[in-house]
Amino acid sequence: MKFPKNFLWGGATAANQIEGAYNVDGKGLSVSDITTAGDLKNPRMLTYKLNGKLQEKPAAPGAGIPAGSVGAIDPNKYYPSHVAIDFYHRYKDDIKMFAEMGFKTFRLSIAWTRIFPKGDEKEPNQAGLDFYRKVFEECKKYNIEPLVTISHYEDPLYLSEKYKDWSDRKMIDCYVHYAETLFKEYKGLVKYWLTFNEINSALLMLGISSGGKVTDAQYQHAYQKLHYQFVASARAVKLAHKIDPNYVVGNMICGIVNYPMTPDPKDILANRHAWEKSIFYCGDVQCKGKYPTYAQRLWNEHNVHLDITDQDKKDLAEGKVDMYTFSYYMSNLVTTHKVKDKMSGNFAAGAKNPYLNYSDWGWATDPDGLQYFLEVIYDRYELPVMVVENGLGAVDKISSDGKIHDDYRIDYLKQHIEAMGRAIANGVDLIGYTTWGCIDLVSAGTGQMSKRYGFIYVDRDDKGNGTLDRMPKDSFYWYKKVIASNGQDL
Ligand code: BG6
Repeated sequence: MKFPKNFLWGGATAANQIEGAYNVDGKGLSVSDITTAGDLKNPRMLTYKLNGKLQEKPAAPGAGIPAGSVGAIDPNKYYPSHVAIDFYHRYKDDIKMFAEMGFKTFRLSIAWTRIFPKGDEKEPNQAGLDFYRKVFEECKKYNIEPLVTISHYEDPLYLSEKYKDWSDRKMIDCYVHYAETLFKEYKGLVKYWLTFNEINSALLMLGISSGGKVTDAQYQHAYQKLHYQFVASARAVKLAHKIDPNYVVGNMICGIVNYPMTPDPKDILANRHAWEKSIFYCGDVQCKGKYPTYAQRLWNEHNVHLDITDQDKKDLAEGKVDMYTFSYYMSNLVTTHKVKDKMSGNFAAGAKNPYLNYSDWGWATDPDGLQYFLEVIYDRYELPVMVVENGLGAVDKISSDGKIHDDYRIDYLKQHIEAMGRAIANGVDLIGYTTWGCIDLVSAGTGQMSKRYGFIYVDRDDKGNGTLDRMPKDSFYWYKKVIASNGQDL
């Protein structure tokens, strides 16, 4: 098993899940700042005022608040993003620990509302720009290449209300102005950019948030929102290349592998269509620069009519991404038959696979699925690929010796690294791997701290108690060895 010489080993995070300091130095509110904590049984809630009355509705990554309402903070509720793990004040110590593990890259996102508090201002907030400059400089000090997500599930609240969660093409200009500001500001400090985190979540989410019954209006919104995001992404890619030809810009897909549950040809066909709808639809537009032939079939199924201009088509064709990146946690079974044993985790909700083990949060562990996904995607696009999220969310216990022996996490990551090695041996141009939540952080799905992914433990619980002190787990020393040996010593 051989990894390329300059393979980008590292870890990944997102601003609202680590930074805290939600209202500091001019930052505006984002949708995640009005999202409460939940758990496995209770969903996270979005809190808002409708006709002056505080109300709430279940949140899902990327979801907006109801039309006509105003996002609001309920003083009696707990909002994990407000302090998170306080990376805003502790980034120097955290990056130092990443460097100690030998990170070659660190994936983080920029909070749009630190740069543009409402989202549509002309002039950026200097304090916000300064913060990320300091973070990138700190990375450079240790030769860590920042990998920057421009938008990771935290649209400015003001824009989300005004343009109803990307229902208006004016969002494109706001996003492009924001992205252009970043490309100009951080020229020379950043090389790798990702335009939208898990852009396909707009479609994946429909299966879960609606409890199975999805209306044509919901599809209309999801496909239109995606179209505006595709155009915004393409225009950002074009600008990035113009501002600095060395910039490498990727898309980012939630990579759930679908398998047919039975050999029934109806399941095989349903599975093929599941791939198209949930995975290929976004990748095809972003990598090939145009809508695939099956898009019209998908739109027809739900009576969807899109606002697409000739200029949009031109932008899509000219703004193809340079690399394909994705998160990978699990696989999913697709069937047209009745399902007895159901599973649901992240955006997957299908039948339980008897050949796989499931985490405490119901996520299937399937390293072969990672190899499968890598080979399918590379074969389809022939672009460099990066796995920018992968990991095991688990409860960690401090042992009597005061340490965390997270051999289950080491085992999970080891199996996935081996799967990547096999894909590379089979010809996939895999250029990097950033494990999710390299330092414990707030879970996007549940808002919990107890769902931990990190090599570094953070002393904070689900209610916001704890010192926020950091401590390396066993996996910290293991990953250090993996990086030092370029994936040989697992
Ligand atoms: C991905 C997101 O879907 O999964 C991350 O990009 C998220 O933001 C990660 O944290 C893990 O999900 P969760 O719900 O365990 O935090």
